[in-house]
Amino acid sequence: MTCRDRPVESLTSDEAETELAALAAEIATHDKAYHRDDAPTISDADYDALVTRNAAIEARFPLLARPDSPSRRIGAAPAAGFAKVTHAVPMLSLGNAFGDDEVTEFVARVRRFLGLDPDEPVVLLAEPKIDGLSISLRYENGVFVRGATRGDGTTGEDVTANLRTVDDILGTLPGGAPEILEIRGEVYMSKGDFADLNARQAKAGGKTFANPRNAAAGSLRQKDPAVTAERPLGMFAYAWGEVVGAAWATHGDYLETLQEWGFRVNPDSRRCADLSETTALYRDLENRRASLPYDIDGVVYKVDRVDWQKRLGQVARAPRWAIAHKFSAERATTTVEAIEVQVGRTGTLTPVARLAPVTVGGVVVSRATLHNEDYIADRDIRVGDTAIVQRAGDVIPQVVEVVIDDAHTKRPAYRFPTECPRCGSDAVREAGAAARRCVGGLVCPAQAVERLKHFVSRDAFDIEGLGAKQIETFREDGLICAPPDIFDLQWDELAWRRGWGEKSADNLMAAIAERRTIPLDRFILALGIRQVGQATARVLARHYGNLASWRDAMDAARVVGSEARQDLAGIDGIGPSMIDDLIAFFGEGRNREIMEALTERLTVADVTAPPADESPLAGKTVVFTGTLETMTRAEAKATAEALGAKVAGSISARTDIVVAGPGAGSKLRKARDLGLDVLDETGWRDLVG
Ligand code: IVH
Repeated sequence: MTCRDRPVESLTSDEAETELAALAAEIATHDKAYHRDDAPTISDADYDALVTRNAAIEARFPLLARPDSPSRRIGAAPAAGFAKVTHAVPMLSLGNAFGDDEVTEFVARVRRFLGLDPDEPVVLLAEPKIDGLSISLRYENGVFVRGATRGDGTTGEDVTANLRTVDDILGTLPGGAPEILEIRGEVYMSKGDFADLNARQAKAGGKTFANPRNAAAGSLRQKDPAVTAERPLGMFAYAWGEVVGAAWATHGDYLETLQEWGFRVNPDSRRCADLSETTALYRDLENRRASLPYDIDGVVYKVDRVDWQKRLGQVARAPRWAIAHKFSAERATTTVEAIEVQVGRTGTLTPVARLAPVTVGGVVVSRATLHNEDYIADRDIRVGDTAIVQRAGDVIPQVVEVVIDDAHTKRPAYRFPTECPRCGSDAVREAGAAARRCVGGLVCPAQAVERLKHFVSRDAFDIEGLGAKQIETFREDGLICAPPDIFDLQWDELAWRRGWGEKSADNLMAAIAERRTIPLDRFILALGIRQVGQATARVLARHYGNLASWRDAMDAARVVGSEARQDLAGIDGIGPSMIDDLIAFFGEGRNREIMEALTERLTVADVTAPPADESPLAGKTVVFTGTLETMTRAEAKATAEALGAKVAGSISARTDIVVAGPGAGSKLRKARDLGLDVLDETGWRDLVG
């Protein structure tokens, strides 16, 4: 669970840590979908928002930046199935410029870095930025020996056999070729070939592609090179990797050599003597963009002189000597026919516009994301409006704005649903959150599978033999729709199932029976209340002691200012937005029905304190200070309390143990002054086992 919609400034370090972990996982999934599987599931803009949020959190909490952070990766690691190739010279990415100013600034930076006189010309070689996938072709003594995709920039996939089927790729270079030369460029599919391929695929019931880039990538990553051979792929060459036995003074000279050898170099590549020439070329290409036979998404400017390129070098994952001047998104006008609201697997309501079909940048668009409630309200988007839609190389297009005319004004304003369109439960919006969410997680069919998987997960009910896979099939077959159904499963419903039998049915029935008594913290966790993870569930369980007290307290806490609300707010580790989530959960009648149904079938065990004499912490007072690195503060506190300790917020002579992490300040000094026992996190872990 994350607090994704909260401003970065309001995150605690625990929350930041949790969110960075979630972002790393989520972005990695999207990277794989995009780079490896060629099937992106979110728009570029939404993806960029995730990357930006990750960077913003890292900027505020630099020490929490993860080794697997998206800020340290390019693309996705290679797919399984192809051999890996470590590039002799990494394949870099490019920095972006989104306007003429940023190009001017790029040239100024180059000048400053090289210390050039103001009248020294900086010649740039401009090339269209092809929207395909980059590859590296290794020639040894003029013979093509290996071809690889970019992968994560360091390691790519060996697609040699497939690349040999591409006409633009030479098997041998003419005589006099260098000892080693890695030629780099972009493999692409033309717009016409993409449309034909999709039509053929659709007719044959095969996979269709969202855009030419994905079609090119999918075609190149075929297991069988014969399939690639049937796909019309082209390649433009534009860079080098490792080179032994050759040198070029300028990038333009290199392109000429490539062309003489028989490679395709983009015909719109030009040497530009100054910024007026780059701007003219940019405008010209932008005008011709839609009529070019292949997709381009900008113009790349490269410092022409190779000696300067070498001096400029690279920063992070992009060269200082090149930049991509991106085109703005392609747009079209159409009608909003309806606004539909989808419910995601975790309960987020996402509005989508159904549009009169329109061609945007060569692709027919009939749906566009509207992101969230505010996005619609800010633009006052109404059903029937004339809308401007855009695609920025995106798979999922966006409605940018609607035409505000008389007809618009006469249409009723759109009212975002406050009930879940799938299950009718309340759809609530937390303070500061962008999304509205369905709180009927336990009953909502859109969320059922995720919630059921969570319910049986390791830290919750942990029912042996009932994992994510079984949950999915049992739900498909209508055996389990909501958690209580698990406890109504019948032996003979299981024993006849394909792949099952008497023994497996016995085992699962026994595993379920074992969980008919469950500790309160596991029960709370299993309910899947937003933001209530394992640590919070433990804190709540310890604080309230038994199910009835907790339930009564949550009911009473619905009244603002009530004693129960104050008590809840006073628990260390429970913040205001978590209280909102708890209250929303208990406010939904259907969640209560499910809890009722569960308690009719189960015994939820009360929390019992461990016998004092068995715990090294019994009766001790513990203070935590500084940042904990392997657990959250709430978790550490719950552990301490579970072992019979009291956790205090400040140091005094009555403190027994101080656990100090990085950044501990005055409390640590005071502890030392008082001569108290100070442990680091490892020491603490050793103590509590
Ligand atoms: S040069 C060291 N030139 O854009 C510089 N890249 O956003 C390496 N691309 O990974 C790249 N057309 O896949 C270069 N004319 C061009 C390009 C181009 C398309 C792609 C390439 C690269 C990505 C960076």
